[in-house]
Amino acid sequence: MNALERVIQDDYVITMKDIIYEGHKTLRLVAKEVKKPITSELLKFGEIMMTFLKNSQDQKMAEKLKLRGGVGLAAPQLNISKRVLAILISDEEKNIHFEEVMYNPKIIVHSVQEICLKDGEGCLSVKREILGFVPRYKRVTVKYINCNNEEQIIRLKDHKAIVLQHELDHLNGVLFFDHINKKDPWSIRKNLEILE
Ligand code: CO
Repeated sequence: MNALERVIQDDYVITMKDIIYEGHKTLRLVAKEVKKPITSELLKFGEIMMTFLKNSQDQKMAEKLKLRGGVGLAAPQLNISKRVLAILISDEEKNIHFEEVMYNPKIIVHSVQEICLKDGEGCLSVKREILGFVPRYKRVTVKYINCNNEEQIIRLKDHKAIVLQHELDHLNGVLFFDHINKKDPWSIRKNLEILE
C-alpha cells in the first residue's frame, strides 16, 4: 500500500507519524500535477488533510493525537508527491478566516511588495527552530481547482498569502529556510513589510 492508499482508508486519521521531515528526498522534489477532473480518491485525500488541520487546531484532539498545530499542509509532507495542499486559518475564538483545499495551485500574479512574519516561520516537517525573516509576496492571485472540481481564481494578501506561498513551496521542493538570508537572517530588504 502506498502513502496515498494508506491515508484515504475509511476512518484514517493523519498523525505526526505520517509526516516526513527535512532530509527526506520527497520534500525536495517538484510534485506532479493532478489530472482533471480530480478523482474521488484525491477529493477524499483533500478532506483528510483538512481534518488533520482541524484536529491540530483543536486543543483536545491535538493533545489526544499529539499533534503540532498547523495552518497548512502539503501532500509532499505526507510523502505524496502531488500538487495538493490544504489551508485552515482561524482565530482564537475558532472563527475560520480561510479554509480551502487546492489542487494544482499556481500563482498567476503577485505584488512587488513583500511581507514577512515578524517571528519568522515554522514547518511541521522541520523539527528545529530556524530563525529569520522569510520574505513572501504581499499579494498573490492564485488559480487552482477546488473540492467541487471547479477552477477558481482568488486574491490573497498578508497572512493568507504567506501561508499559501509556504505550502506552494512544498510542491516545488522548497522549504521556508531556503528564503532566509544566511549572513543576516533579520535583514530588511527594500519593499519588505513586517507583519505584526
Ligand atoms: Co511547511
